[in-house]
This record gives sequence, structure tokens and C-alpha cells, in this order.
Amino acid sequence: MKAIVHNKYGSPDVLELLEIDKPVAKDDEVLVRVHAASVHPDVWHVVTGLPYVLRLMGSGVLAPKDRIPGTDMAGKVESIGKKVTQFRPGDEVFGETHLALQWRNGGAFAEYVVAPEDALALKPRNVSFEQAAAVPASGFIALQALRHEGQLEAGQKVLINGAGGGVGSIALQLAKAYGAHVTGVDDTEKLDMLRALGADEVIDYTRDDFTRRAERYDLIVDIPGNHSFADCRRALTPYGKYVLVGHDHFGKLGHRVLGSLPRFLKLMAMSLFVHQLPKMRLPLPTKKASIAVLKQFLEAGTLTPVIDRTYALAQVPEAIRYLREGRARGKIVVTM
Ligand SMILES: NC(=O)c1ccc[n+]([C@@H]2O[C@H](COP(=O)([O-])OP(=O)(O)OC[C@H]3O[C@@H](n4cnc5c(N)ncnc54)[C@H](OP(=O)(O)O)[C@@H]3O)[C@@H](O)[C@H]2O)c1
Repeated sequence: MKAIVHNKYGSPDVLELLEIDKPVAKDDEVLVRVHAASVHPDVWHVVTGLPYVLRLMGSGVLAPKDRIPGTDMAGKVESIGKKVTQFRPGDEVFGETHLALQWRNGGAFAEYVVAPEDALALKPRNVSFEQAAAVPASGFIALQALRHEGQLEAGQKVLINGAGGGVGSIALQLAKAYGAHVTGVDDTEKLDMLRALGADEVIDYTRDDFTRRAERYDLIVDIPGNHSFADCRRALTPYGKYVLVGHDHFGKLGHRVLGSLPRFLKLMAMSLFVHQLPKMRLPLPTKKASIAVLKQFLEAGTLTPVIDRTYALAQVPEAIRYLREGRARGKIVVTM
């Protein structure tokens, strides 16, 4: 099969399109003929090997352990492992290729990939492979931020900082579907898109600072993390919650060793004393449960993935360079 192969950490130029053997599904895995896969910031992190800590978290210390990048995909089941019960050959599916962490290559930028059955769901008929591939990891993060950490309820006022990006454009639609009043913050060019996705109010971050306005929110989901918690707290109701998704802005913050981890650890420690910071709640939602919820929203039409551009498999390096420019509205998708 054709696949994008990643033999050493570096710029997207290190990636090569090669002919390699098809993977084989283990007992609890499904072999999928990939039709579309999405490009998200964690793909950039693993290709570059930055921050360095990810290399110790399973990605491979000196070189990538798994050779094919990409974690989110949609396609058709080619064959199934002996213990697989939920899918049959010919089913159209979407999901992730890992059950756990995103910070490693997942094999999706290839004509075929294996994935655990519990990380997949049947693709709704009303969405394309491209749209379905755009949802899994971003949707998982959005759901976790809104419901698990943010404890969002109908009627609450939510602000999504960075609402025009991969995670934000899904979080905005999910928050509306859960009955919230949603304010989306992003740059001037993305505001029409936020309105079209259902935002009740929009704020242009190039002109206005939401932490300095009179408005108060029950939940702030902060994707770019460009304000401190102390600043965001001014915009929270007394029992409001602040959830940081965080963004390393493709190395531009210069945190090459630990990335945003120290900031998360500090917030976790503060959450013991500050009720506006969510406490670590276990267990985390499973990917199986999350992908099932996302499927329902797609089927209901309350979630419509926004695709900025599509690229061919051979153009993955170009797609990652475009992602790094930070201009995409919604998601970037690779089609096979
Ligand atoms: N998407 C995924 O599938 C995925 C998977 C795993 C982890 N994550 C993590 O989730 C985080 C977010 O990913 P993403 O895909 O949503 O990133 P993204 O597509 O780059 O979105 C970030 C958004 O924030 C906006 N932004 C930048 N500066 C801002 C500011 N000062 N105020 C308000 N908005 C601002 C950006 O707009 P402009 O750049 O146009 O200003 C962009 O619309 C990353 O840390 C990523 O590692 C994402």
C-alpha cells in the first residue's frame, strides 16, 4: 500500500510517500481502507518530536517508533480480527487509531490502517468520509472540555476562545446542541463562520479582550490559552468554570522541552483550592462512549464539520505546513 512514512523527527520535509506492506489486524482490531484522514496540531507535534517530553510518552526517544503519522480517519472495513463483534467487512466507519494518548503516530496517512474496534463507530450516512474524518480527536477534546470538565448544562453562558479552529468549531456546535448560549472568540476573518455555526455572540480578539468586558460566563473553554487564568477569572460568574485546552502554537511559545505541561500541572494543583478550576475527575470518558455521542450529533445534523482544505496523500507535508500557518477555518483533511 502507499503510505506516508516518518523515519526521523524534523520538519514535514522528512516525510516520504512510500510503498510498504499492509498492516494486519490483531484479534480486537479492524483493518480499514482509509478514504480520508485529518491533520491536527498533534500530528505536527509528533512529526517534529516537539516538545521533547512526547518522545518519552510512547512516541519514541530517538526516532518515531510507529512509522506512519495520522490518528483520525474514516473509511471502509476491509477485514476484522477474531474477537471483533461490532463491525463487518464493508461497513463504513470513522474514529481514531489509538484508544489512549494522541502524542504518537497512528498510521492513518496510508491506504490501510488498523484500529481498535472500541475507537470506531459506524459513519453516519448523511456525512462524507472527509467530514467524518474531521471529527474524532477534536470532538473528543471538545466533549471532554464542555461536559466532563466544564459540566455544561442547558441555559448556561459559554465562551469559547479560539472557536474558529479544529476543536473550537466543534465545541461551538456541541455547546449549542446542549442548549447553551455561546460566545465565540476568534479573529476578524472567522467571525462570519462562527455566526453560521450558531454562535449567539462573537468577539474579535484583534479588537477586543473578553477578559476586560462586563460580560460574565458560566464556562470558558480556552483553546489558544493566550490569557492567564487570573485574567479569565474576571469574566467568570462566581461558580463559573475555566477549562484550558491549550495550544503550543507550533513551537512559537518556545517551550521545547515540556510544552504546556507545567501550565496544566499548575492549574491542577490550584484546582484543589479554586472551585472555578475543574478537579481531576476519574474515570475519563472512553473513546467508545465519546465517538458514539459524536455520531449521534452528526446524524442529528447538529454537528456539521467545517473543512477548510483537502489534500492528496502525497501532499501531507504541504497540509502540515498549511496547518502550521494557523489560517485554517475548521479542519484540514487528506483524502486517499
Ligand atoms: N484538533 C485536534 O484534532 C486535536 C487533537 C489533539 C489535540 N489537539 C490540541 O487541541 C489544541 C487546539 O487544537 P485546534 O485544532 O483547535 O487548533 P487550531 O485549529 O489552530 O485552532 C486554534 C484557534 O485559536 C485561534 N486563536 C489564535 N490566537 C487566538 C487568540 N489570541 N484569541 C482567540 N483565538 C485565537 C486561532 O485563530 P488564528 O490562528 O486564525 O488567529 C484558531 O482559530 C492544540 O493544543 C492541539 O494540540 C487538537
